[in-house]
Amino acid sequence: MKILVTGGTGYIGSHTVLSLQEAGHDVVVIDNLINSSDEALRRVAELTGKPAAFHRTDLLDEQAVDAVFAEHAVDAVIHFAGLKAVGESVSEPLKYYHNNLVGTLNLLRSMDRHNVRSIVFSSSATVYGEHNAIPYVEKMEIGANNPYGRTKEQIEDILSDLGAADGRWHIALLRYFNPVGAHPSGRIGEDPQGIPNNLVPFIAQVAVGRREKLMVFGGDYDTPDGTCLRDYIHVVDLAEGHVAALNHIAERAGVFRWNLGSGTGSSVLEVLRSFEKAVGRPIPHEITGRRAGDLPAFWADATSALADLSWSTSKSLDQMCEDHWRWQKNNPQGYSAD
Ligand code: WQD
Repeated sequence: MKILVTGGTGYIGSHTVLSLQEAGHDVVVIDNLINSSDEALRRVAELTGKPAAFHRTDLLDEQAVDAVFAEHAVDAVIHFAGLKAVGESVSEPLKYYHNNLVGTLNLLRSMDRHNVRSIVFSSSATVYGEHNAIPYVEKMEIGANNPYGRTKEQIEDILSDLGAADGRWHIALLRYFNPVGAHPSGRIGEDPQGIPNNLVPFIAQVAVGRREKLMVFGGDYDTPDGTCLRDYIHVVDLAEGHVAALNHIAERAGVFRWNLGSGTGSSVLEVLRSFEKAVGRPIPHEITGRRAGDLPAFWADATSALADLSWSTSKSLDQMCEDHWRWQKNNPQGYSAD
């Protein structure tokens, strides 16, 4: 099939483009490069031997989005494009609601006009909010507690309403937990702009000498070692999950929700130890105060993706850290060195 990937030069997007091409699909990428580099696509093409068509297009430009659909006979869409920093969304909610919601509405209207009604949407575990029991199950009530998470929840609602109103739509909502790691080649990986918000890219930048030390946000939680537990998932496993979801909805109309996680929680210190093993030396760190908004622990109930998609994670935390480190060691400044 010909798959349009929005946000396809990003961390998860670029790994998914690679998995799609390895599965034999043709890929078209739309990205505005606000938070990524098209060098990622050049490297994916190096790895697969198949260049993806690339349009430097912003989803807020409805005419430009329409032109992409007019040029390519797209069969389905995987939609990653969106702003995703929780903290920034709290300080700049209007920017997040405008970019994430209007961008998605433009995409969906263009799809409908061009009779493309199959979409896999990149949602997030953050939609489960802070009141659900662990492990999170897809049928639970959702209620995000930050503007970023609320945009994900509202896009899920838009897609659910669309699927209920028009039986021609095939829709998969994928709720990611904590993606980490990189393609084993070390040629593509996570390249956050500015100071990384997330744990593993921050650890990787300390290990490669770009940051002085890791601040562990809280060591006094009610968890085995006092630090927070999260469900870390290798980005290659996550990319494969998208291909599996795409195949599933290709045959079935309707709206489907799946958690993409490992089903187990790992602590901040366990992740740090695993990364130190990959690097072969201790990584400077200090346990400091808690970060506002953090939950002590959450992880996925991953049974429905296994049952419906025959998909589950296959890579261990050590493999995630080894692969993340190989990428960071080989690309100390991410893609910008090129
Ligand atoms: C993990 C743990 C931190 C950095 C976020 C978003 C979520 C999703 C994934 C988009 C926490 C601790 C972190 C640091 C630390 N993104 N930590 N020092 O918060 O689980 O989820 O990213 O969909 O929406 O909320 O991930 O990597 O930020 O934090 O101690 O420098 O690591 O306190 O316990 P999180 P994270």
